[in-house]
Amino acid sequence: MPDRAYIAIEHSQEISGSMELIGAKNAVLVIIASLLLTRGKSRLTNVPASDDVLQMIKLMQTLGAEVFFYAQEHVLEIDTSTVTKWHVGADIMKKMRASILAMGPLLARFGKADVALPGGCAIGERPIDYHLKNFKKMGVSFDESADYLSARAELLHPNRIVLEYPSVGATENIIMAATLTPGITTIINAALEPEVYNLIEVLRHMGARINIEAPATIIIEGVASLHPVEYAIIPDRLEAGALLLAAAITGGSVSLPQAQAYSMDVFLLKLEEMGHEIIIGPQGIGITLKATKYPKAVSFKTAPYPGFPTDLQSPMMAVLCLAEGTSIVEETVFENRLLHVRELQKMGAQIKVEHNKAIIHGVEKLYGASVIATDIRASCALVLAGLAAQGSTIMTGIHHWTRGYEGLDQKLTLLGGSVKVCASHDDAELLYTKSETGTSDQVMSRN
Ligand code: EPZ
Repeated sequence: MPDRAYIAIEHSQEISGSMELIGAKNAVLVIIASLLLTRGKSRLTNVPASDDVLQMIKLMQTLGAEVFFYAQEHVLEIDTSTVTKWHVGADIMKKMRASILAMGPLLARFGKADVALPGGCAIGERPIDYHLKNFKKMGVSFDESADYLSARAELLHPNRIVLEYPSVGATENIIMAATLTPGITTIINAALEPEVYNLIEVLRHMGARINIEAPATIIIEGVASLHPVEYAIIPDRLEAGALLLAAAITGGSVSLPQAQAYSMDVFLLKLEEMGHEIIIGPQGIGITLKATKYPKAVSFKTAPYPGFPTDLQSPMMAVLCLAEGTSIVEETVFENRLLHVRELQKMGAQIKVEHNKAIIHGVEKLYGASVIATDIRASCALVLAGLAAQGSTIMTGIHHWTRGYEGLDQKLTLLGGSVKVCASHDDAELLYTKSETGTSDQVMSRN
């Protein structure tokens, strides 16, 4: 994407209609890494062609995997029988922190993993201490240089792992390392996000023995080997959230037949408290939102699943800017995830920040402005605000948008919005619709 690309959003009529969902980014990234636990060809379907997924594919290639990505069909084939390396360079790690999720599988496969330190990002320091100290409990020794981590384990051994915080990444990394570690590994206070569940499902399909018990306990019995799989990635609850909020902020009505409502309870509860009508399909599959014309303010704090997802905090805040009354949003998962506030203020939002709390006084109108996306979910918040704002909004920093979403701009446009990815201010040339120009069918051969 050209450096000076931006997204132009116009004030839009009601966002309305029905839409399919793409696979969940935060499920497919870890599932691709988990394929390192197998030797052979796996096939994943419903795979989004977002930039983070392309980055994870690149990581697999640098380790020696053979990759075929049919982006238009969202089908990914990866052959890991040719994987011979365990080194993840800074070029990959700096671009995407989720690369750390290769550590567990590489340790299980080779007893070795050399990875560049991921470093922080806009939303927080993002340390990996929970990963490292618990790998040490499984017999891993670390040699840490300025910017590299060299992990070695003659033999991984099982253990009872207690997480002081239900970290998604640490839970996933330990599960993957434990699947091929003889004996019983138990994770206490584990993360149980739907994406973690999806990973466990895929590992079970590979032949892993994993049980989940209350409260938040995952028990892994190591097996000798795991085999390749064919698997469909779960629909993205964060894309679903974005589309429902687009209808909410424009007074429209959207149906998402594939959405897994049972994994979005607290978020949907808050939308109902605002006055929006939410209709859930049979067995909790399928969501329709019919927006109220008089949305009310609501308050919430983010929390690990099943609490209110931090990844929907900023998009929800955009909608609350136009709700009647005062909303209080408290971000408890990441220490610096309110950067979108100053961009929403540029659009006329009345928001005060006190530590990790945002106090939002609803306003009648927002106004188009030039705004900057600071992270993936902030980019979504600004696009949503642009749909409701008077006039035009120009959003830069769109590498965040393309990292987390594939084709969401087109979906919003198909539902009646005006969201365009443009090359640069000067010639405002349209340059999107990946399927026509970019990643139609990508055959990526091994390096
Ligand atoms: C995953 O990140 C997601 N990323 C994030 O989505 C999501 O926001 C987050 O989980 C919480 O739901 C992927 O799945 C690729 P954590 P992760 O470990 O695993 C602290 C998006 O927009 N912590 O649960 O990195 C950490 O700093 C992204 O798609 C430690 O202190 O999240 C944070 O404050 C953003 N030490 C908190 O725990 C550790 O070793 C939660 O982090 C690990 C984490």
